[in-house]
Amino acid sequence: METGAEREVKARILDKGPITFAEFMSIALYHPRGGYYSDGAALSNHRDFYTSPAAHPAFGALVAVQLARMWELLDYPRPFYAVELGAGSGILARGVVDYAAESLRPFSEALRYVAVDRSPPGGLCAPLRRLVSDAVPLKGVVGCLLSNELVDSFPVHLFEVRDGRVLEVFVELRDGVLRETLSEPSTPLLEERIRERGLPLREGCRGEVNPRVGPWMKEIARALQRGFVLTIDYGYDAEDPHPHDRMQGTLETFYRHTSGGSPYQRVGAQDVTAHVDFTAMISEGNLAGLRPVLLSTQADWLGAMGMGRMIADVRKQELDQPVRDANLMAMRELVKPDGLGAFKILIQEKDTGVARPERLLPTPSERRAPLLRREHAGLMKNKYPHAAFQTDELTGYGIPGVQTGEAPLHEV
Ligand SMILES: C[S@@+](CC[C@H](N)C(=O)[O-])C[C@H]1O[C@@H](n2cnc3c(N)ncnc32)[C@H](O)[C@@H]1O
Repeated sequence: METGAEREVKARILDKGPITFAEFMSIALYHPRGGYYSDGAALSNHRDFYTSPAAHPAFGALVAVQLARMWELLDYPRPFYAVELGAGSGILARGVVDYAAESLRPFSEALRYVAVDRSPPGGLCAPLRRLVSDAVPLKGVVGCLLSNELVDSFPVHLFEVRDGRVLEVFVELRDGVLRETLSEPSTPLLEERIRERGLPLREGCRGEVNPRVGPWMKEIARALQRGFVLTIDYGYDAEDPHPHDRMQGTLETFYRHTSGGSPYQRVGAQDVTAHVDFTAMISEGNLAGLRPVLLSTQADWLGAMGMGRMIADVRKQELDQPVRDANLMAMRELVKPDGLGAFKILIQEKDTGVARPERLLPTPSERRAPLLRREHAGLMKNKYPHAAFQTDELTGYGIPGVQTGEAPLHEV
């Protein structure tokens, strides 16, 4: 059956001819009638994917630990704003605010958490200050602007190399069916990005360019008076093999926890994403006045914030075995090197005087672990219905220093 988003895509093509992939993706994800994120349902029941804060509340708790350290570094401003962009259901907001209230006083008294999303809230998590916007509708922020899996959901332009030239992928309608066609690029950004990164023009190679990164960094830098920008997402930087080496770029679809379907199927009913180019984030940030302090993997950073101590705490708490197992399992998901642990964390700063990543480390201390609640993804139930795993696998799981203290942070 044709979805509302698909009808809109077809109407646009009939009206003005082939549209860029970026326009197609924008309708598929955000059109008010039938866009994937338009009703909040996609996120609130973890239907197609789950994100780190939905996996286990330790994630939100360790984000809170990082924010509390930033508060110290800024000399304890009151209020300290945490502005989450692309907050979705609010599950990270809830995790941060709850953990701060339980375990991070007096930071929690200074914390003002604002959750921003371009789609109306899905209604999963309890009331917080919420703003509906696709920009950064604030100024004079002292604190931190943060996001988790936001930038990967910005619409991207697609290109393909043909006969040594860079062409753009457009979406057209042939015999009533959505298909791709190649044409001259609609924006010089495509060739600029390829040139900047010195990428070889291999025949047939495909890739994406995210046109929103530069303007987004500028908006963030304008909103931030003094403080930090914390961006968490999957992606690559100059140290990684460039995805264009894989010839097919990084565009992905997610439907019912399976990736790999055509973006032109189930338009508006499946997620469409592309990996984040962290090198572009850093260079656009620099241009906007944001200095990079830390680029790390999620596993290393969570280790540095005290994941090992939280794991030790779960082992110590008096819990029924299935509850303990479910918690340890979900915490392990957060640091798996071939999963969420491979996500990247970028921390940039403006006017803080903080240049070295070590300064972002919190003082090591006991960390009480929050436990899974109803709103979390229930990974154990979904992924391991027979629950025959060994929780001892968690010991030292790929996190440097996880058992003995906090892990080192790497400089950008
Ligand atoms: C993959 S979801 C992540 C949700 C949440 N951060 C989490 O970790 O569960 C991406 C979210 O970003 C929102 N979004 C996309 N572009 C946005 C923009 N320009 N401004 C604000 N929110 C945006 C979407 O509506 C969606 O809720």
